[in-house]
Amino acid sequence: MSKVLISPSILSADFACLGDEIRAIDAAGADMIHIDVMDGHFVPNLTFGPPIIEMLRPHTKKPFDVHLMIAPVDPFISAFAKAGADILTVHPEAGPHVHRTLQAIRAAGMRPGVALNPGTPASIVEPLLDNVDLILVMSVNPGFGGQSFIESQLRKVEQLRHMIDQTGRDIVLEIDGGLNRETAPRAIAAGVTAIVAGSAVFKGGPSAYGDNIRALRPSVHV
Ligand code: DX5
Ligand code: ZN
Repeated sequence: MSKVLISPSILSADFACLGDEIRAIDAAGADMIHIDVMDGHFVPNLTFGPPIIEMLRPHTKKPFDVHLMIAPVDPFISAFAKAGADILTVHPEAGPHVHRTLQAIRAAGMRPGVALNPGTPASIVEPLLDNVDLILVMSVNPGFGGQSFIESQLRKVEQLRHMIDQTGRDIVLEIDGGLNRETAPRAIAAGVTAIVAGSAVFKGGPSAYGDNIRALRPSVHV
């Protein structure tokens, strides 16, 4: 099995010292940095936008895995590219033309991703498979860290694993919400190749980050 990527969500970091937090998770073994952008409209919470991402960029060379929970998306694509996003993931419900949005993300030099809410079926991805490098399964309703894992999303992971395998393309299958040392191995068994975790990584402060990240990797559970 190829390595499962761990993408800590800085939503659970100490916002007063985000640069230090990013250096700490980088040193602790994070593969990517998951950045949750929320607009208070698409989801009932507010976080950060391109200026903060740009200021965080010099603190790590790891890819910025930017999860947009905003609507509309299109007017902001170039700003996220300039800020240093590597992967830009959007929800299909954020606008009427998700196919065009994914094309625009690639044209701006980033890797396009599509995110599925718990109530959104796997089938929505089928016409988009040629246009995405990452599929994000939300295993909580987006907006907040620290929520409980929604079991029914494992079935969706299995469906998407099958769809991705049929393409022969190297599409990352990522899961986000309620991942911890109990749920992560089950998501990996269902077929994900990347795990987002906020509260499970940042609990206990910087001295615990290494152990917290290692606890999410499959080798710990064999
Ligand atoms: C929720 C965000 C998640 C969140 C996960 O809207 O997309 O990335 O930070 O937090 P945990 O891992 O605590 O469920
Ligand atoms: Zn997220």
